[in-house]
Amino acid sequence: MSKGSVYIWSNHSLHDDIDHILIDEVTLQRRVRELGQLISLEYAGKDLLCVSILKGSVLFTADLMRAITIPHELDFMATSSYSGGMASTGTVKILQDLKNTNLEGRNVLLIEDIIDSGKTLSHLIPLLQERHPANLRILTLLDKPQRREVYVKVDWIGFSIPDEFVVGYGLDYAELYRNLPYIGVLKPSVYCETE
Ligand code: IMP
Ligand code: MG
Repeated sequence: MSKGSVYIWSNHSLHDDIDHILIDEVTLQRRVRELGQLISLEYAGKDLLCVSILKGSVLFTADLMRAITIPHELDFMATSSYSGGMASTGTVKILQDLKNTNLEGRNVLLIEDIIDSGKTLSHLIPLLQERHPANLRILTLLDKPQRREVYVKVDWIGFSIPDEFVVGYGLDYAELYRNLPYIGVLKPSVYCETE
């Protein structure tokens, strides 16, 4: 039985596993609206294609899109560098590519949930550049600058956070906690039980 199904049957509250809230819902939503305004100003009168990186960016993308007031398209890519836990495997895999979207000459905005080591984006950026977009900019909700191993030029950052493993608002631990409306730090007992 997976951890998920144990939680369903035991009526466990996800909030009980959170040690503390790092960014509350109101603060998150306020910043997402600000980012939407910045993006709308930057790309006003221009073509815009948002590429959201699954699965972690999905809640952020949905709220951000509603805060962007200019016309834009959306596509998804999925990458994986984590094997369900907290430690990066170091290898970045493309699990899902864009759906027939031609990037040539487009203004592409890559939407990430969090930049940690920088390995995912440093792998993805050259791959997308080979498709000759007019430009490729990076927007991340969260940034952990202390964890960076590979340099990545980031254009917009929602919040810089300390070196702590966070969940909620799309970010998971073992595929759970994505539905929490805030960014929180897990109690160490949660990952000690499962790792
Ligand atoms: P990077 O390749 O090390 O920069 O890692 C990027 C990916 O790792 C993110 O898109 C997340 O999916 C995942 N990740 C990194 N830190 C965290 C965290 O604190 N919580 C949940 N996922 C994380
Ligand atoms: Mg991600």
